[in-house]
Amino acid sequence: MARREIFAGNWKMYKTSAEAVKLAKELVSGLEKKPGREYVIFPPFPYIRDVSAECSGTPVKTGAQNIYHEVQGAFTGEVSPLMVKDCGCTFALIGHSERRHIFNETDADVNRKVRAALDAGLEPMVCVGELLEEREGGQTAQVLERQIREGLRGFPAADFAKITIAYEPVWAIGTGKVATPEMADDAHKIIREILKSSAGEAAAEAMPILYGGSVKPDNIEGLYKMENIDGVLVGGASLESPSFLKIINV
Ligand code: 13P
Repeated sequence: MARREIFAGNWKMYKTSAEAVKLAKELVSGLEKKPGREYVIFPPFPYIRDVSAECSGTPVKTGAQNIYHEVQGAFTGEVSPLMVKDCGCTFALIGHSERRHIFNETDADVNRKVRAALDAGLEPMVCVGELLEEREGGQTAQVLERQIREGLRGFPAADFAKITIAYEPVWAIGTGKVATPEMADDAHKIIREILKSSAGEAAAEAMPILYGGSVKPDNIEGLYKMENIDGVLVGGASLESPSFLKIINV
């Protein structure tokens, strides 16, 4: 079955507003739209409105790097999914490893945020991935199973059609240590099996699973060729248009 193919860039906490808009402009003008391929960028919160406006009417969609799980209220410093939607975003990144490991987000937080994103009409892109010690301890499958089961607990099959998974092994993020295409493909197979038992065969088959962690122009081809890799979520190499365009135009 042909699955959605998504190429995404997570800008993390980088760029000024002028740089953000310039980068979006360069991406829009440099991308060679491939049939069936979708493009998403995740700018920092203060720029999502301007970057969304810049991308409006183009194949590039925008998303928030995080959301809060409530729609409104006395939650100083938090950002509502409805605000993100109102600023032009289509996606919300949820449970990124930096959220989990620096800001102590749990699988229960991920679950609440996925619910809130769906309720606001955003597409959740849910990040999962094991730590180096978990991989070395042979616990990768177990960690992925817990993150997916707990993170996506209680959603009906119809909701799964709007969810995307990004597999980002924590040891490969920002380290230059990319998982080999075979390692990534194996993890994606494990994820799809877990999804089958929690979302059902059809929903699991249809769900795109992206790889993230030190994706660069010189390793994209090997990753992209793998049967179970439906796209990528790029950090560092998405911050400059020449490198990101080489990746998204693969
Ligand atoms: P790097 O591509 O910089 O390793 O970051 C990956 C990532 O965290 C994307 O969300």
